This record gives sequence, structure tokens and C-alpha cells, in this order.
Amino acid sequence: MRFHHIGVATNNIALTAQQYSIFGYEILSETIFDPIQNVHIAFMEKEGSPRVELVAPVNENSPILNTINKNGTIPYHFCYEVDNIIEEVKKLKKLKFILISKIVPAVVFENRLVCFLYNRDAGLIELLNK
Ligand code: NI
Repeated sequence: MRFHHIGVATNNIALTAQQYSIFGYEILSETIFDPIQNVHIAFMEKEGSPRVELVAPVNENSPILNTINKNGTIPYHFCYEVDNIIEEVKKLKKLKFILISKIVPAVVFENRLVCFLYNRDAGLIELLNK
């Protein structure tokens, strides 16, 4: 498993990007609409620092709305790149992780497969297929 990014939930990508620029982060690309997750996404990078994914809700049906309503702007998942997402999901399920999403193509990653797993003692983890 290779670390890929930290997901940060926000109501306003532009405002949060502005705040991260204080820490030296730069926006990598235009904000992208992901119709499968029903969110807007933008990536930020800073040399020597973990990649940051800003995730904002599109409407009331966006899955991260609960997270934001509860916590405001907040880092809420770590993403790991894996060689075989199916095998990793099997492995993590045996280690008491719960698969809380389908394994679906990610628009922001050239339709590579992604999924989310949750474990009470680890929090929310995203897997991204190589
Ligand atoms: Ni992510």
C-alpha cells in the first residue's frame, strides 16, 4: 500500500484552497465534478508534503455532507494506492474493515477503481487501484 492523498471535506473549495496556500500548497488542476461520488474535487500539492484532495458537496445528496455538517472543514480520509483493489478489500475485510461504498471508477483518476472502507479504530480509508 502506497500513501496517495489526504481527503479534506469542505463546503467551499476556493476558500479552503486559499487557506492551504498559506502553508505553501498550490492547486494542481481545475475543480472536477465527480458524478459517481456526487462531489466536486480539486487537488493541491506542496513539495515534501502529502497530496491534499479537497472534496466539496454538490447538493443535499452528496455523501460528505454529514461529515461537514458535523465537523466543518476537516481531513476525513487517507487514500492508499494498491496493486489489486479486490484482493486488498478481501484482506481488510478479514481485519474488520467494513466496505462502505461500491468499488467504482473514479473520474478524477482516469476511471481507476476506488472504494472506501471504515474501521472504528482507523477511521475512513480510501483505496485506489494502480
Ligand atoms: Ni480521496
